[in-house]
Amino acid sequence: MEARISVLGGDGIGPEVTLEAVKVLDSIAKRFAHDFTYVAGDVGGVAIDKTGSALPPDTMNIVMGSDAVLFGAVGGPKWDDPTNKVRPEDGILGLRKSLGLYANLRPCKVYDQLIDSSPLKAHLIKDVDFIIVRELTGGLYFGKPKRRWENSRGRRAVDTLAYSEKEIERVLRVAFELAKSRKGILHSLDKANVMESSRLWRQIAMEVAVDYPDVKLHHMLADSAAMQIITNPSIFDVIVSENTFGDILSDEAAVIGGSLGMLPSASLSSLPPKSGRRRRGGKPALYEPIHGSAPDIAGRSEANPVASILSAAMMLRWSFGLHKEADAIEAGVQALLDEGYRTFDIASKDDRPLTTSQVGSMVAGLVKG
Ligand code: IPM
Ligand code: MN
Repeated sequence: MEARISVLGGDGIGPEVTLEAVKVLDSIAKRFAHDFTYVAGDVGGVAIDKTGSALPPDTMNIVMGSDAVLFGAVGGPKWDDPTNKVRPEDGILGLRKSLGLYANLRPCKVYDQLIDSSPLKAHLIKDVDFIIVRELTGGLYFGKPKRRWENSRGRRAVDTLAYSEKEIERVLRVAFELAKSRKGILHSLDKANVMESSRLWRQIAMEVAVDYPDVKLHHMLADSAAMQIITNPSIFDVIVSENTFGDILSDEAAVIGGSLGMLPSASLSSLPPKSGRRRRGGKPALYEPIHGSAPDIAGRSEANPVASILSAAMMLRWSFGLHKEADAIEAGVQALLDEGYRTFDIASKDDRPLTTSQVGSMVAGLVKG
């Protein structure tokens, strides 16, 4: 198949890791006879420096003309002043909102080879394999009013946690569908003991559950879930939550496997397309690592590109229905670990870690057609 992929590397290690993902995609294209073309665009801090905007119109045009977006990371100390009017993060938030990417899939999988890299005890994390479905275009991130002001009593600020029935229902349906295709266990997180938006969330979850008799729905308070994710992670199969809880808990979940550098994500605007069928028309989905721009290691060839490489695998699977090809990338990453290779983030003191570009080349070589 032919596909046009926009590559938005962004800031810090973003450009380094997406470069390696493209290397792996190229290897897939060659072995499976596909034709992928790549179009690069600026986003985040680098885009602010060049144009004054974190998501310039040129970039938006590139994105809208593509079948999927491979995103790196945005942000860094250079643009961190809280009084700034524009922020690098506006780039990714603007993309999520304008592409309608309401469902963010964040798989959390423990690799057997890396069990000892985890800060948690091995017996707790063996067989952990769950996926967080984070609502991505609502809640505190986008609710209005959202502003800061000053009056005679001092400075004030407000953010708004607002959700409509439709916004809640569509992301819950994505989570139920996923749970149905997996172990059939869904944990819906909320703070229904405190928040109105959570009580609506819980009510809608119960209503949608009627359509999924094969899925066992559990409601769990988000604070309690924070504890369970660390003490009992193997109970989870699919977790669904609103935007902010999902942001915080997915970083927490990411440490279970020993490294943030291994975890990909997909941001989708519809229920997963059926296998083998490519989305035509419509807006592209976006694929990005869970990790951020890591400015402290940028430019040192130490970044782990696996999260970006696995994000490319998710793109093949969810946007293009290329399941064999996605499997081949995932198997390539497994093979790399099996052969004992390590990256800087997961190396123990006896390992000689691979550079960013060595990892990309090795995985590209390990994907089998
Ligand atoms: C994430 C990031 C973003 C978020 C930032 C960069 C805006 O932390 O993707 O989890 O908060 O959603
Ligand atoms: Mn986050």
